[in-house]
Amino acid sequence: MLRKIFIAGNWKMNLTLSASLELSAGLRGQIGGVSDVEVAVCPPSVYVQQVAAALKDTNIGVGAQNVYHKDKGAFTGEISTGMLLDIGAKYVILGHSERRHILHETNEDVNLKTLAVLASGLTPIVCVGELLAEREAGTTEAVVRDQFEGSFADVSASDMKRSVIAYEPVWAIGTGKVATPDQAEEVHVFVRSLIEKKYGKEVAESVRIQYGGSVNDENAKEILAKSNVDGALVGGASLKVEPFVKIVKSA
Ligand code: PGA
Repeated sequence: MLRKIFIAGNWKMNLTLSASLELSAGLRGQIGGVSDVEVAVCPPSVYVQQVAAALKDTNIGVGAQNVYHKDKGAFTGEISTGMLLDIGAKYVILGHSERRHILHETNEDVNLKTLAVLASGLTPIVCVGELLAEREAGTTEAVVRDQFEGSFADVSASDMKRSVIAYEPVWAIGTGKVATPDQAEEVHVFVRSLIEKKYGKEVAESVRIQYGGSVNDENAKEILAKSNVDGALVGGASLKVEPFVKIVKSA
């Protein structure tokens, strides 16, 4: 397999500065030297700088959970890719379902951000995934196709190749209702077919597709064993050292 497994923690709007540093120290001690798996944590943006400093000289990268697509200017409350690079970020989660559904981000918004992130040299982790009602209505593939095509509009083949996609069925996020390994694999195969259709086989075979949605230390191994599941985007189970370490080790 050419694709390196990539486990990322999405801390969402959780933890304090001191809890972030404690978690970072724990991860540093236990998986700071892991090299056969790519590992990242994505703290709230206000903690990115200190977490990046706490994880300096380890193999654990740091990412943000959102960014604005403009370089600078009168955009009150927003932060730029340059600012994230400045404080040590390497990755940015984009189009997370909480941003799509609670903060009303559209595919067009996600696309502008994806293009800006790629232009900056940061690595985007672009989330796609259907709602429970959409799965039940049989529209999972149509929803995921729209999100993929919308989010990656105008992205070149070389930029696609270094992008990461996270398939996160919304009904599985924070609910304890994990998709079965077969359900995940099915959508991952579909996403890879969309990449292949647009960019060809070589690019499609290179892009890492993470699964996200109630991944924990008990179910990670089984999901990661699927050949098209190239990692995990972990929410709740990334907030404590032990489960996150176990997930990384099970990869
Ligand atoms: P969860 O969140 O692991 O808590 O379900 C995953 C995510 O939203 O990225």
